[in-house]
Amino acid sequence: MSLISLSPSVLPARPGGSLQRGTYYVQTWGCQMNEEDSEQIALGLESIGFTPATSPREAHLVILNTCSVRKKPEDKAFSFLGELKMIKDARPDLVIGVAGCMAQVRADEIRKRAPHVDFVVGTAQVIRIPALVEEALQTRRFQKRLDLPERKGAIVTDVPQRAVGRQAKLKSFVPIQYGCDKFCTYCIVPATRGRERSRPTEDIVREVRGLVAQGTREITLLGQTVNSYGKGLEEGRVTFAQLLRILSGIPGLQRIRYTSPYPRDFKSDLIEAIRDVEPVMEHCHMPLQAGHDDLLRRMRRVYTVESYATILENLRAAVPDIGLTTDLIVGFPGETDEEFEGTLAAVRRFQFDGAFMFKYSPRPNTPGALMEQVDDKVASARLDELIRVQTEIQIARNEAQVGRTMEVMVEGPSPKNKALLQGYSRDFRMVHFPAREVEPGTLVAIRAVTAHKWGLMGEWE
Ligand code: SAH
Ligand code: SF4
Ligand code: F3S
Repeated sequence: MSLISLSPSVLPARPGGSLQRGTYYVQTWGCQMNEEDSEQIALGLESIGFTPATSPREAHLVILNTCSVRKKPEDKAFSFLGELKMIKDARPDLVIGVAGCMAQVRADEIRKRAPHVDFVVGTAQVIRIPALVEEALQTRRFQKRLDLPERKGAIVTDVPQRAVGRQAKLKSFVPIQYGCDKFCTYCIVPATRGRERSRPTEDIVREVRGLVAQGTREITLLGQTVNSYGKGLEEGRVTFAQLLRILSGIPGLQRIRYTSPYPRDFKSDLIEAIRDVEPVMEHCHMPLQAGHDDLLRRMRRVYTVESYATILENLRAAVPDIGLTTDLIVGFPGETDEEFEGTLAAVRRFQFDGAFMFKYSPRPNTPGALMEQVDDKVASARLDELIRVQTEIQIARNEAQVGRTMEVMVEGPSPKNKALLQGYSRDFRMVHFPAREVEPGTLVAIRAVTAHKWGLMGEWE
């Protein structure tokens, strides 16, 4: 599970186009939305004749796809730009572009701190990258494209055109909604991604059909508040639960996941879809953020600990084996000991199967940045404590699975031990088991034998 994978990822090599223009390298930070954008960037570059490079040292063109959700990924991008400066000093024809969330909100600072950058391109302008590259190769003038679709009247329908023809992949991300209208007081995403807008249902269906034809067996639907999908789609509006049902009818699609639903919009029709629609996985990643109502109010999360609890109870009642994971923030401005205890109590009460836990990072131009900050040492100690409590719960939750037989989708050999295969269960536990000759994508029955922090070791049923 990687909602936020801060470890840089490199796009895998693939055959290039016929027209050889040079090589590109895309460095990605941030969430799945960025990973997905990086794939679109790669396709755009290949369409104008670039082929993948294995490292930035040898590439003719380097694109940074950045993240601003916390300070750390921003620091990483600036330090990467520092390294690229040295490469560009030695090789002045290197083209460098900065894309993604940090490009959207800090373009001027990037220009100032890294004058060796050729262009800065915002999150809604990914499609323009090939043209920006051409322009950079010809003119060598700095360029900036940052337009974000703004709300005109009540509806924003401007969604990116997506390239088709991706390489075969067992698991694919499919954005169904862009932007966010929630404006949580700690969060920069509404500024970096613009207003909420949903992709037309028929576009999504077409894309998923195409992916399945290329070998995809599992999709993860992406959106910042994915279960409010459909807002703004006037004609024949389809709700998120309806979308799940529509996609489940696509032959060959074995599994459907989604991330992340917002608690307030989690309605009973969605619970019914998770219970009844076969390819929809029994797993739900629903960020709680904090376990005290005063904190939630200051964060502008419009639900309470009790209303969140009711959703979990209903989910567990309808789907007893459901895997539940969450996101939590500690050290939000003004967080008292009592409020933090509330978060610990909620974690003990809700018994999550996994959690991403973060120390609050003040983001420029968000309301939280202007509030009274918690001492950094206090916040760090709270994060350690929370991780300790959650880890114990997680191990116990995995141990409780021992003896259970699970459906696992085979992904391939474990990178650490070729004698093992790995895959995920329907409730999103990572499972390892002895290797046999089976195709990736096969659904197999595995009995859990031992448990550890990150998942299970199993044997063939
Ligand atoms: N749209 C998703 C979250 C996207 S950001 C949702 O609302 O569910 C992913 C996670 O990063 C958030 O859930 C939150 O836990 C964390 N996060 C966001 N802003 C943060 C900040 N300023 N400091 C620390 N963590 C933050
Ligand atoms: Fe950020 Fe809140 Fe929107 Fe999630 S719902 S992207 S946390 S503003
Ligand atoms: Fe994702 Fe980071 Fe942007 S989490 S939406 S890449 S700020």
